[in-house]
Amino acid sequence: MIRIRPTEPIDFSGQVPGDKSISHRALILSALASGVTVIEGLLHSADTTATWQCLRALGADIQQDPSGSVQVRGMAGRLSQPDQPLQAANSGTTARLLLGVLAAAGVQARLDGDDSLRQRPMRRVVEPLRAMGAEIDELGSSYRLPLQVRPASLHAANLQIAVASAQVKSALLLAALGAAGHSEVRLPQPSRDHTERMLAPFGVRVSQQLDPDGGEVVALDGPRRLSTPGLLKVPGDPSSAAFLWAAAAVTGGRAEVSGVCLNARRIGFLHLLAEMGVQVQITVDQVDIEPVGRVVVTGRPTRAGLVSGPQVADMIDELPLAACVMAVAPGLSRVEGAAELSVKESDRIAAMERGLSVLGVDCTATSDGWRIKGGRRIGHGQLDSDGDHRVGMALSVAAMAGSDVSTLLGDRVWEISYPTFLEQMQLAGGQLERV
Ligand code: S3P
Repeated sequence: MIRIRPTEPIDFSGQVPGDKSISHRALILSALASGVTVIEGLLHSADTTATWQCLRALGADIQQDPSGSVQVRGMAGRLSQPDQPLQAANSGTTARLLLGVLAAAGVQARLDGDDSLRQRPMRRVVEPLRAMGAEIDELGSSYRLPLQVRPASLHAANLQIAVASAQVKSALLLAALGAAGHSEVRLPQPSRDHTERMLAPFGVRVSQQLDPDGGEVVALDGPRRLSTPGLLKVPGDPSSAAFLWAAAAVTGGRAEVSGVCLNARRIGFLHLLAEMGVQVQITVDQVDIEPVGRVVVTGRPTRAGLVSGPQVADMIDELPLAACVMAVAPGLSRVEGAAELSVKESDRIAAMERGLSVLGVDCTATSDGWRIKGGRRIGHGQLDSDGDHRVGMALSVAAMAGSDVSTLLGDRVWEISYPTFLEQMQLAGGQLERV
C-alpha cells in the first residue's frame, strides 16, 4: 500500500527512464536484424522485460553490459521455435507487436498474458494479419490471448484499421517486412510513429502520409531484411515525465525534465496543460531518430480543458492524468472520443471515475471519457489502482493535492512502466511512501 500526504508545491529537475514504446521497438528490431546492436537508455521495467524474455525464447542473444547498455545479437530473420508459451505478462505492446513478428516468422508459437492482458482485444490485430495470410488459432476466448501462430507464407495487403492504434499499425508493419509486395495500412487518425522512424536506420523506408480526411497511411515494400545501425539511443519517456508535470500542475510547483522524447504524437498532454493556463516551456535540443529535449512545467491550471478528436491519440496514456489536472482546474472540463480507455490495462474510464470520486471530485464517466467539474479542494480517501500502473500513479498524483492523508492499493504498480516513480516523486518533495 502507498500512503500519500498532502504535498507542498513540488520541485523537480532531472531525467526520467527510457521511453517504453521506443524500448520495445529497439529490442524487437535489434533482435530481428543481422549484427549486434547496442541500446543505450533502454527502459528496464516489467513490460520491457516481457519483450526481452519473449525475444530470448525466440533465439535472440540479449545481454546487459556493465556500463548499463544492452547488447542484442540479432537473429538475422531466423527465429527459433520456442518450447514454452511466450509470456507477454501485462504488456499489450509486447503481445500485439510480437503477433506481427510471429505471423511472418515461420515458427509455431503460443502467446499468452496475465489476466488483464487476456481480456484485452486482439481482433484488431488478428483479423488484418489473417488478411495477409497469417495462421492464428484462438486457444481461449474468441480473439483474446492465448493465441497460437503457425508458420504461413504472408502476402502484401491494403489494410484499413478502425482504431488509431500504433500497436496494431506496428504489428502490421512488422508482418509486412516478411510479405512480398507493397503493403499499406490506413488508420482513422495519426498515431505514434516510433516503428516507422526506427525502421529507417535498420535500412527500411516506410512511407507516411496523411489522407485529406485526416487519416494516416503508412506503407512499405517487402520482403525486407533488417541490418543493425550499431547503436540506438532511447530518450526519456514523456508518459513517465507526465506524472511529474501533472504533479507540478496539481500542487502549483515546477517540474523540469530533460532528455525526454518530444515526438509530436506523444506530447498532446503538454499542449493541454498550456491550454489550461499552466506554464509550459518546450525546447528541442536534438533530432536523431526522434526529437529530444527539455520541458519545464510550472504552476496550476487556471481554466477548464477539452480533449476530443485527434488529440486523444496524442495523449492516450496521459488521459488519467489529464482527468486529475481537470479536477483542480476551475470550470467544466471534458474528455470525449476516448472509448479506447476502457480497453487498456483496466477500464480506465471507470477506474478514474471511482478514484476521483473517492477524492470528492465531481467526475462523471461517459461512454468515451469524463465530464469533470473542477476547482473544488481535492479530498482524501482509500484509493485502488485496479491493478493498472497508470491509474495507480495518476491517483497518487491527485492525492498529493488532497486535504489529508490518502492510501492507494496496488503495490509497485509503477514497475510496469516507470520503476523510479516513487523515488523521483519523493525527490521532488512528494509525500509518498510504501507502508
Ligand atoms: C503503444 C501504443 C498505445 C499506448 C500504449 C503503447 C505503443 O496503444 O496506449 O501504451 O507502444 O505502440 P494503442 O496502440 O493501443 O493505441
